[in-house]
Amino acid sequence: MAEFESIVILTGAGISAESGIDTFRDAGGLWERHRIEDVATPEGFARDPDLVLGFYDSRREALAKVEPNPAHRALARLEREFPGDLLLVTQNVDDLHKRAGSSEVLHMHGELLSALCTSCEMRTPFDATMSNRPPCPVCQAPTLRPDVVWFGEMPYQMDRIYAALGKCDLFVSIGTSGAVYPAAGFVQEARLAGAATLELNLEPSEGSHFFAESRHGPAGQLVPEWVEEVLAG
Ligand code: OAD
Repeated sequence: MAEFESIVILTGAGISAESGIDTFRDAGGLWERHRIEDVATPEGFARDPDLVLGFYDSRREALAKVEPNPAHRALARLEREFPGDLLLVTQNVDDLHKRAGSSEVLHMHGELLSALCTSCEMRTPFDATMSNRPPCPVCQAPTLRPDVVWFGEMPYQMDRIYAALGKCDLFVSIGTSGAVYPAAGFVQEARLAGAATLELNLEPSEGSHFFAESRHGPAGQLVPEWVEEVLAG
């Protein structure tokens, strides 16, 4: 019998770092090379759509060259073997959780491999180039944008996330700096619900002090170890 019955897991860029995807705020990270207001806001997109579409095209190309790592695979194993409720929420727009075998992943910041049509508002799977303005597969208008959440936009499925946080008995945050709300506030929501809280991160994050326990090291090592512990009960 496992010690926990309902677990919510939040992942961030750090879980994909060992696969070779750049994080945002580490040295050499994406936000050192690109300005958030240029490539990750609706205003930046309105000002220079070519720049924004090109930025996400190159991130999509980079994604095609990488593979899931042991941390993604361990969470897929947890989904298969944990007998209780599990909600895996990711801030990442990559598809590495799914490729590792997690069948249910809540992408609160959207997905690189999805397109959102600004004319008909339909979402469609997308793995090609967007800067050449392909037609929307539904309405044919050449008005696709990346289906990612930009600063100033509402993350997806917040009601479902808060409902799960309100009844979980363990919240685990993996590879995220705790710099961006609302995700950075999930630990406090979980604490209000009386849940145990655990951070697995390379180094103490900005919100480390909110967690009852923090373990520091690479996700590829810490996550498989933790999954082993949970499944051992
Ligand atoms: P950040 O780049 O802010 O933080 C990555 C975290 O991962 C840092 O705390 C690192 O110490 C840690 N890290 C790096 N390598 C690691 C490893 N091998 N194992 C474990 N941890 C490691 O990325 P996020 O917290 O995901 O949003 O960023 C949150 C949001 O900010 C993103 O979803 C994105 C960004 O702006 C939007 O674009 C809306």
